[in-house]
Amino acid sequence: MKLWKGRFQKEADPKTNDFNSSISIDSRMYRQDIEGSMAHAAMLGEQGVIDKSESEKLRGGLRDILADLDSGALRIDPDAEDIHTFIEGELTKRLGDTGKRLHTARSRNDQVALDVRLALREECAGLKPQIEELIAVLCNKALGYAGSVMPGYTHLQRAQPITFGHHLLAYAEMLLRDLGRFDDALKRMDVMPLGSGALAGTTYPLDRELTAKLLGFSQVSQNSLDGVSDRDFCAEIAFASSMAMVHLSRLCEEIVLWCSWEYKFIELDDAFSTGSSIMPQKKNPDLAELIRGKSGRVFGDLMGLLTMMKGLPLAYNKDMQEDKEAVFDAVDTLKLCLTPLIPMLETMTVFEDNMRSAAARGFINATDCADYLVAEKGLPFRDAYKITGELVALCIRKGLTLETLPLEEYQAVCPDFDGGVYQAISLERCVEGRKVLGGPAPENVRAQARRVLGLVQGQE
Ligand code: ARG
Repeated sequence: MKLWKGRFQKEADPKTNDFNSSISIDSRMYRQDIEGSMAHAAMLGEQGVIDKSESEKLRGGLRDILADLDSGALRIDPDAEDIHTFIEGELTKRLGDTGKRLHTARSRNDQVALDVRLALREECAGLKPQIEELIAVLCNKALGYAGSVMPGYTHLQRAQPITFGHHLLAYAEMLLRDLGRFDDALKRMDVMPLGSGALAGTTYPLDRELTAKLLGFSQVSQNSLDGVSDRDFCAEIAFASSMAMVHLSRLCEEIVLWCSWEYKFIELDDAFSTGSSIMPQKKNPDLAELIRGKSGRVFGDLMGLLTMMKGLPLAYNKDMQEDKEAVFDAVDTLKLCLTPLIPMLETMTVFEDNMRSAAARGFINATDCADYLVAEKGLPFRDAYKITGELVALCIRKGLTLETLPLEEYQAVCPDFDGGVYQAISLERCVEGRKVLGGPAPENVRAQARRVLGLVQGQE
């Protein structure tokens, strides 16, 4: 039986039921719906809009429904239109006429705007420790591999020497920004919309501040139309999730590359790898690939939300029922991806020797060779750059590296060279010398890892 029975002569065509219903998605908000209703009932009682005794009865009934839903004694009717209708209907079943007073001065439009906020507040509270845990794993690995030389890349070409610890900390920085984005979204979402009614507020003397206080919001919405129409917070959380998925996806792409025989910088633990049904030798980084793949659906959730909202006139439109599926999928997918990624990184084996020997090929110390001519011999950088380029070309022709090229060959290109060049281009020294703030020198990496660990562990 529909809520709007009085106005209608007919029951809804059964073919419309599933289409119109949101119960399969919003039943996960039953606790938040009840929490919101309890605060609303308490405020109505305080304001004398309903009797105090009825307010108490309503809250008692809602508390019982919550306990029964939690224990499984009460099942949510999958044919109900949405969670709001189901809980109000159940309350009325249990309390009779008193139950019918709950919806005084309220609409499902402000009710759903509240419930989604409450639900997302909890989802974000669950996400943050997972992101912090991933950051902590990256920092601990960075401490362990602060001095492990590897090639840094641009254009996927070996470029300059860095350390594995430094590389991992780049991801820790991205994830710190993700935490900040969720915090920002939460701040703007911290607005209580009840009292907006269907769209035009209400004539009842509500104390909206009291409802906000009971529900732990620091502000109330200031315009009733905006109160029921605002879904910015869904888009913001979908964006924060999307950005985090970009970071996870980039890290996973590198994991996939590093696991290949072409790199062999790392190997994933058997527990976080898969085999092939036909090729007995295979060990595949499926989980990393799947995380990379799942980023697409999260971006889709964000795009769906923005597109759903962009043409809507004020105030509530049923289109907005699509918000929950999208934003819940975004946060669920992010959580789903973080869950295996954290132990996968924790248990990986790192092949420092392979990184070191990859770093020894590709002339990644060429910049340091040029810098030696500048610092030790006073050459202008452009000249030093050109001389080093010639030396690299010479090495390629002779099948040598800058380390193995004899001093006479250096001197034939530029007489300023002396034996000091070999020290200047030693990869360990090249890395140690990059002490500039933010650079890969092992002491920097250790200090940065400790700083970031302090940030995430301080936040817990
Ligand atoms: N199920 C609806 C939603 O998720 C609740 C609000 C319905 N309001 C309405 N006027 N039909 O958006």
